Amino acid sequence: MALVQLASLKVFLSKPFVTLDVCSDFLLGRWKLNNCKEIENVSLENKTILVTGCNTGIGYATCLKLARAKARLLICCRTLQKSKATAERLKKDLGIHETTRFCCLEADMADLNAVSTLAKRILELNEPIHFLVLNAGVMQAAKKKMTRDGLELHFAVNHMGHFLLTYLLLPRLIQSAPSSVIVVTSNAYEYGKPEKLADYRFVNYPYIPVSAYAQSKLANILFAYELRKRMKDKGVEVFAVHPGAVLSDIYREEWLLHAPVIGFFSKRLLSYIMRTPTEGASTITALIANAICSSDPSFRHVNDLSSNLYWKDCKPQNVNNDLVNDVSSEFLWRVSLSILQELGIVNEKILPIEERCC
Ligand SMILES: NC(=O)c1ccc[n+]([C@@H]2O[C@H](COP(=O)([O-])OP(=O)(O)OC[C@H]3O[C@@H](n4cnc5c(N)ncnc54)[C@H](OP(=O)(O)O)[C@@H]3O)[C@@H](O)[C@H]2O)c1
Repeated sequence: MALVQLASLKVFLSKPFVTLDVCSDFLLGRWKLNNCKEIENVSLENKTILVTGCNTGIGYATCLKLARAKARLLICCRTLQKSKATAERLKKDLGIHETTRFCCLEADMADLNAVSTLAKRILELNEPIHFLVLNAGVMQAAKKKMTRDGLELHFAVNHMGHFLLTYLLLPRLIQSAPSSVIVVTSNAYEYGKPEKLADYRFVNYPYIPVSAYAQSKLANILFAYELRKRMKDKGVEVFAVHPGAVLSDIYREEWLLHAPVIGFFSKRLLSYIMRTPTEGASTITALIANAICSSDPSFRHVNDLSSNLYWKDCKPQNVNNDLVNDVSSEFLWRVSLSILQELGIVNEKILPIEERCC
């Protein structure tokens, strides 16, 4: 344990400015949320939105805000039971008994065959998808875990599951244009290293939880960057969002929050300074609100949205171009496709997206 913490410390010290940014998110994140456009004032009637990982945390808070604005939700959790429980909780929080606006779906995002089945099921619904929110995520599993597909867990859940889901839904997203894909990443992506992306089993580099998470979040932003390029002129916008430091279940393996006595006090303290899931959902829902309102002249001041890839605190951010660039994003795209081909997950010959979508 001490060795893992030392290794993590080394990662944090290797990028002091990124670490400062991460710390400021923990300490000041709540106060940095200004001028977020509130989704509740916008009507999402007739808009279909798919959210992954929404039984808890930022995903649930996002769904609640979207449901209040009357969106149709494709609720996608690890199991059908969790999706149904989420729909029930939404109804209770909204004070409604019946609705046809929620559709419950399931997939373990760590299992690429399950993701494939999920995509098939969604396509069978025969309805548009206006927004795809790729939110499900795991963070800092203390020990290296491999999925049944032979991928490291963070890479599998945070990136590969979402890559495959999006890839299979692209024709539908294009048909539904204007539509958007919102990839939930993290400013921790800056601890990632593009040259390590091909080592998705952590064979050549040692497994350090914070690095594994960072690699997957780098993959998230590179995927968003590459998809944005490929969807240019197809009416599908792509954004990457850092939700801030949010006190959620994602810290379930963080000893500081769960150790006897100290856990109680640290949770109390952090609940005053870290964002709530509702606050963490703000940048995601603000982007959706802006996309809906972009034709409305009263929102012209925020109309330059689609030109920005990366968002945090409801504001556009510069990306680190040393990490996020054409070379790295094309490399990740090729690696991801080759994994699918190797595993035989996508049976038909994988065609370039441009050809699949015509
Ligand atoms: N919280 C933060 O400080 C923070 C900061 C930056 C970025 N983020 C990102 O924000 C996103 C949401 O995080 P959160 O804070 O809301 O965490 P959370 O409360 O732990 O929620 C994560 C969600 O992902 C789901 N999930 C995890 N593994 C899955 C799998 N194999 N298959 C299907 N679903 C799975 C979880 O389902 P189960 O309940 O079934 O596990 C849960 O619904 C993540 O992508 C995370 O990386 C969070």
